[in-house]
Amino acid sequence: MCGIVGYVGKQAACGILLEGLKRLEYRGYDSAGLAIGAKDGLDVIKKVGRVENLIRAAAGVKETAHTGIAHTRWATHGRVTDINAHPHVSSDHKFALCHNGVIENYLAIKKFCENHGYTFQSETDTEALVNLIAYHYQKEPEAAGKNRFLTAVRKALLHVEGTYGIVALCADYPGEIVGARKGSPLVVGVGNGENMIASDISAFIGRTQNVIYLDDGQVVHLTAEDFDITTIADEAVDPVIAKVDWEIEQAELGHFTHYMAKEIFEQPVALENAIRGRFSDDQSTAKFGGLNIDPLQLRHVDRLLFCACGTAWHACLVAEYLIERFARIPVEVEYASEFRYRNAPLDKNTLVIVISQSGETIDTLEALREAKRKGFRTLAITNVVGSTIARETDGGIYQHAGPEIGVASTKAFTSQILLTAMMALYFGRLRDLSFTEGREMVEALRLVPGLTSQVLDQADKIKVIAKKYAQFEDFLFLGRQAMFPIALEGALKLKEISYIHAEGYPAAEMKHGPIALVSPECPSVFFAPRGEVLKKVISNIQEIRARKGPVICITSAPRDELPEDLANDIIRVPDAHEAVQPILFTIPIQLLAYYIACERNCDVDKPRNLAKSVTVE
Ligand code: M6R
Repeated sequence: MCGIVGYVGKQAACGILLEGLKRLEYRGYDSAGLAIGAKDGLDVIKKVGRVENLIRAAAGVKETAHTGIAHTRWATHGRVTDINAHPHVSSDHKFALCHNGVIENYLAIKKFCENHGYTFQSETDTEALVNLIAYHYQKEPEAAGKNRFLTAVRKALLHVEGTYGIVALCADYPGEIVGARKGSPLVVGVGNGENMIASDISAFIGRTQNVIYLDDGQVVHLTAEDFDITTIADEAVDPVIAKVDWEIEQAELGHFTHYMAKEIFEQPVALENAIRGRFSDDQSTAKFGGLNIDPLQLRHVDRLLFCACGTAWHACLVAEYLIERFARIPVEVEYASEFRYRNAPLDKNTLVIVISQSGETIDTLEALREAKRKGFRTLAITNVVGSTIARETDGGIYQHAGPEIGVASTKAFTSQILLTAMMALYFGRLRDLSFTEGREMVEALRLVPGLTSQVLDQADKIKVIAKKYAQFEDFLFLGRQAMFPIALEGALKLKEISYIHAEGYPAAEMKHGPIALVSPECPSVFFAPRGEVLKKVISNIQEIRARKGPVICITSAPRDELPEDLANDIIRVPDAHEAVQPILFTIPIQLLAYYIACERNCDVDKPRNLAKSVTVE
């Protein structure tokens, strides 16, 4: 949420910062700004709207500045205005600051600063912090061997309650940047004769692949040639430089118009990456390298608790069906944001599993921390290597789906489902799942990438259906068992990117209320896989049709098992193993949502009010 980037080196900072901001724009896009440090002081430009507006406003900015910071905003404190955009500048014009997070005691800090003569222009919490830094800078005399800029930032942060990822510039130190984090991600890009800092690596991946992930409570001081990491309390830190495992091309649009489309069509590859090297044919099971828990301990786990948010929470619901079905372990699923504040009694043999594409969602991170605090063993499924959740979990599974940039999660979702299906297989084989059943599952899961391609081949057909339904303002998504979470996901995808009101329900629940919504103006999307509940779903469809509700039916059932004229439109997906069906049924609802949003001229990759990676509570 909000993108930060800072550059110090020998190149002109402005262009590099703007390029970084373009890559970070998916994190927030209501306003953007930059500050560059020059010998004659700080230059600051801020503009409401997309980064494009800032690029236009920055034309002609000093090409001689080699240090700068920039920000793209998703508003938390204060309206969307030029003044509220970051960077914020202290009233003595000494400091510029970009900030992600929320400073909870900003009113007290603001009052303190006002009492000491500092003035305020914006409605933000960030302006309180930048003035507090300026106050400490003025107050602290130059101390031998100490950098006064760094000391002032550190002293100010000691008084902050809340969360932050910050980068700061000081007019007196033109070739230096100070950054710090508590609860909001920051990563240092270590370059050759230049260094960068950003809220995620996509900001600088074209310049360096050597990175240092900052931990909470750490402060970094950057110059072109050097970096130094300490704690806020000024203790030395031994930094670990990691190598990023993806290339800049993976984060580019290529021939696609939107990242969402690119990521939908990347699913066969993302799914192949999820399974690669993770099956044991000898033992007919899945294998994971990073669980950090031995099979004997796992046998003693008698309950799993899954926590996540949004789409990842839907993946947890699918996991509940699959793990209970194949591994016979009781599973509970909680919204991460609820788990943290609910004092749920948990059995000591509970294993807590969080799922997060970004690995930075604050609600999920805090749920993980709460579980660890209470002494539970934790696992995480995450896509972003080196993310905070990945670093703090006891053990985990990387998705290897490649960067997901579209705000609407697509390839990350199907890859999460695939990994939970593999988890069901693994846990099942440690318990009662037979060798033969295990082998069937391994064979079925290996087919997923190819079957996914077959569904994607129907994109043109789904586009035509989308066109037909694009003007409706209400939708129902209805499915039973593992298709219920897919119904929720279908409704979420449509809401997020096309602003159509949509609800997901278990198909049979419809009769207990939602059926009142059914009319010729409210289409229903049904999920009808072949299997034991097919006949029941067909009955539910007929109840809707009897009330003149238009029906789109996604099905894997053979034609002779479906009544003629069952639905207004039918999308066929290949018949597959029960553990594979949720993935295959997801693809049509992603495409449907995407094409409907395009038909309505919505900004698919930057839907209103949203941002990728929600790092505020
Ligand atoms: O990065 P995470 O998986 O933790 O993100 C969780 C949700 O914020 C995310 O899935 C959100 O719901 C997406 N916009 C869904 O498309």
